[in-house]
Amino acid sequence: MSCILVTGGAGFIGANFVLDWLARPDADAVINVDKLTYAGNRHSLALLDGDPRHRFVQADIGDRAAMDDLLARYRPRAVVHFAAESHVDRSIHGPAAFVDTNIVGTFTLLEAVRACWQALPDAARADFRFLHVSTDEVFGSLSATDAPFGETTAYAPNSPYSASKAASDHLVRAWHHTYGLPVVTTNCSNNYGPYQFPEKLIPLMIARALAGESLPVYGDGQNVRDWLYVGDHCAAIRTVLAAGRIGETYNVGGWNEKTNIDVVHALCDSLDALLPRDDGTSYRAQIRYVKDRPGHDRRYAIDARKIERELGWRPAETFESGLRKTIAWYLDNQPWVRDVMSGAYRHWMGLQYAA
Ligand code: NAD
Ligand code: DAU
Repeated sequence: MSCILVTGGAGFIGANFVLDWLARPDADAVINVDKLTYAGNRHSLALLDGDPRHRFVQADIGDRAAMDDLLARYRPRAVVHFAAESHVDRSIHGPAAFVDTNIVGTFTLLEAVRACWQALPDAARADFRFLHVSTDEVFGSLSATDAPFGETTAYAPNSPYSASKAASDHLVRAWHHTYGLPVVTTNCSNNYGPYQFPEKLIPLMIARALAGESLPVYGDGQNVRDWLYVGDHCAAIRTVLAAGRIGETYNVGGWNEKTNIDVVHALCDSLDALLPRDDGTSYRAQIRYVKDRPGHDRRYAIDARKIERELGWRPAETFESGLRKTIAWYLDNQPWVRDVMSGAYRHWMGLQYAA
């Protein structure tokens, strides 16, 4: 059976991608490789229990023997590479894991894939793709008046996380230019939606609002992010995998810049309507301005015209419709939320927000 290999498919975007991929009746099977760090969650894939088209394998992308074995056994027609350490605040507290997985892990995976790809028959070699999922953070920070990031914007990463992702992008590029590996890279803006670990802004604020806890806004709350519903990101990745030009990079974004405080206000207002607080006042009363993130990038904005022009992709959700779906999902899936807010999660909250 034809298959693709997905790395990091038990994480937020990876799980959404695998679920959306296999929701299509004609989809190839998925070999899903994930180390199951604190961010990986088998429960996010529960809908696929018993589905013969989904094979989950717990392994580290930095384990060359495990990667060789999987690639030799399943001979995927493509690799979609999500696996990474992905949280900027954690990269500030402990950058080593980011270097290990995002740089050395990607290197190890590329070497395993190159060996497998070089041994393929000609036609399969030509059809093969390595799709690298990256971030807009590699481009650094914009001022309020700067033009959005384009595909040719110079790299200027500012955090250990974005520096490690930038390094991985460069490795992927070099494996194409030097060895001919057929790669495509996507650089996407901030995602939100179901199954996101509640250490990132939107699910963190939902979880803390419902728990009656403070809503910690870093600095002056005026940092700007471009928000994209995760289902739209998954559709963009499928589009680039099917039709993206080899060796190219595609910026993916929601055309949806918002300040952090506007995002938190929108969340509070939606929760006020759906689940009013007992005392009748707004969830906005829980907002607290806290110490800023060190090196906090001021603004990200994505120019996503290339993927629209060349491949016809545009986001389907507005911020309002995506946020409605997201809040509804978190309200309907409290057992999932309680499960991930385990001891390890509480340890992180203590470390990051105690003061
Ligand atoms: P996530 O942290 O939710 O999930 C990462 C997954 O990778 C987890 O399941 C984890 O167990 C797995 N993993 C980590 N180290 C591994 C290793 N060594 N071997 C195998 N598996 C490993 O991250 P996410 O938000 O789903 O992001 C996925 C990818 O998309 C990342 O590469 C990230 O840089 C990129 N990205 C994320 C966003 C966003 O807003 N979340 C935006 C643009 C790009
Ligand atoms: O831009 C894409 C990137 O978006 C991805 O590559 C990363 O993997 C992903 O984590 C995300 O990075 P950010 O740092 O932008 O996301 P985060 O949700 O951590 O923070 C979003 C904004 O909200 C940022 O300006 C910091 C702010 N923030 C975040 C948290 C967790 C707060 O004000 N308070 C908080 O408690």
